[in-house]
Amino acid sequence: MANISEYEKTWREMSSSHWDQAMYENASFFNRHQVSNTDFIARHAVVNSRGKPIVGVEVGTGTGKFLKIVLEEHPSLFKRLIGVDFNPNFIETARKAVPDADFTLGDCRELKNVLNDNYSEDMQDSFKVVFSVNNTHGILPEKVRDDINKAMADTTSDSGMIIIGLWNGNSFGDAVQHFYAQNDHLCGSLQGASFDWDECKMVTASNYTTKWTKPEELGKMIDESWNVLDVVSSGPMLLIAAKPKNTKVQDNASGEAGAETEYYYDTEDASRFYQNFWGGENVHIGLYDNLEEPNESKDLETVFKASDKSLTRLLDHVYDHMGGLKIRRAMDMGSCYGGCAREMAQRFACEVLCVDMSKVENDINRERTLEAGLEKLVKIP
Ligand SMILES: C[S@@+](CC[C@H](N)C(=O)[O-])C[C@H]1O[C@@H](n2cnc3c(N)ncnc32)[C@H](O)[C@@H]1O
Repeated sequence: MANISEYEKTWREMSSSHWDQAMYENASFFNRHQVSNTDFIARHAVVNSRGKPIVGVEVGTGTGKFLKIVLEEHPSLFKRLIGVDFNPNFIETARKAVPDADFTLGDCRELKNVLNDNYSEDMQDSFKVVFSVNNTHGILPEKVRDDINKAMADTTSDSGMIIIGLWNGNSFGDAVQHFYAQNDHLCGSLQGASFDWDECKMVTASNYTTKWTKPEELGKMIDESWNVLDVVSSGPMLLIAAKPKNTKVQDNASGEAGAETEYYYDTEDASRFYQNFWGGENVHIGLYDNLEEPNESKDLETVFKASDKSLTRLLDHVYDHMGGLKIRRAMDMGSCYGGCAREMAQRFACEVLCVDMSKVENDINRERTLEAGLEKLVKIP
């Protein structure tokens, strides 16, 4: 790995056009994966912020192009989007190119101070989603990475979470051929470059250094004190969602009422009641019109059918209101055992994000979704 002064020289002085051309222009190797990257951040921001205003902070924001995509894909999700970088060329370009985000020149080893000095009001009472994407972590010398990890944890420990987007070591060979060899304005010529294929590391003659991370090495890139919430492999990217272990309790449930609800739905009694007596699959108010008169031996069957019927009616309404537009994504808030989510996924071939605070219900939902072979469409974070 390059030493700290070589890394600083490369990145503090790089011109904006060198980064943009390689990364965002010329039908880049990475272009088509950026949207799933922003979706991963948005999904975790929604699920974990629990109604608090969300401030997004990009560590090592470069020319701001990634934040531009975030704004295009999720225009109203963030109360504020902030990019921090220590390269003045990049910050100047970003401010012009993405006027709807805020950009600050600063060293992310001092992230908390940089943010408090410039955005102290936004830092209070907000849920901070601090992210490092497109392999920023993979260009950092180990000591700098450790310092930045600590700074990210410090910034989010009162209320927030961390997302890291790395480049997957399993795509390293492909990238050397189709990305680095095509972008010598970024990394210099590959003549004379040194490669460590086991470690997926490259140092070029002009000292551009990169490390790609294999899934089994993820632990090296993050702080051991974080709770990892999710890891996803998407094209050449590995995406990690985490929270520092000392995050305040309020983030883990929406206050006292949230904790009580969570507790109630996780109890064995509630679980038995909802599964055996109230619908089982669809736990909501049923529609009893035109069903046979209840009779004792058929009572349960009647309740189950009535529950199914109200779901069918609800989805008919959804379909009618879409006026012929295709439903691509839906969110089921309070998804319970996932009956509604699976029905939607099957009927509309759409992706459904399930949100529920009961671990017991989420576990059952995961099991049933797997059994139904719908795990690609029905997501239960
Ligand atoms: C691989 S680039 C990613 C740029 C941007 N995230 C994107 O997706 O387009 C890494 C970025 O991190 C910045 N960087 C590296 N170390 C930094 C530090 N200690 N403080 C602030 N920025 C840093 C570099 O200047 C560069 O813009």
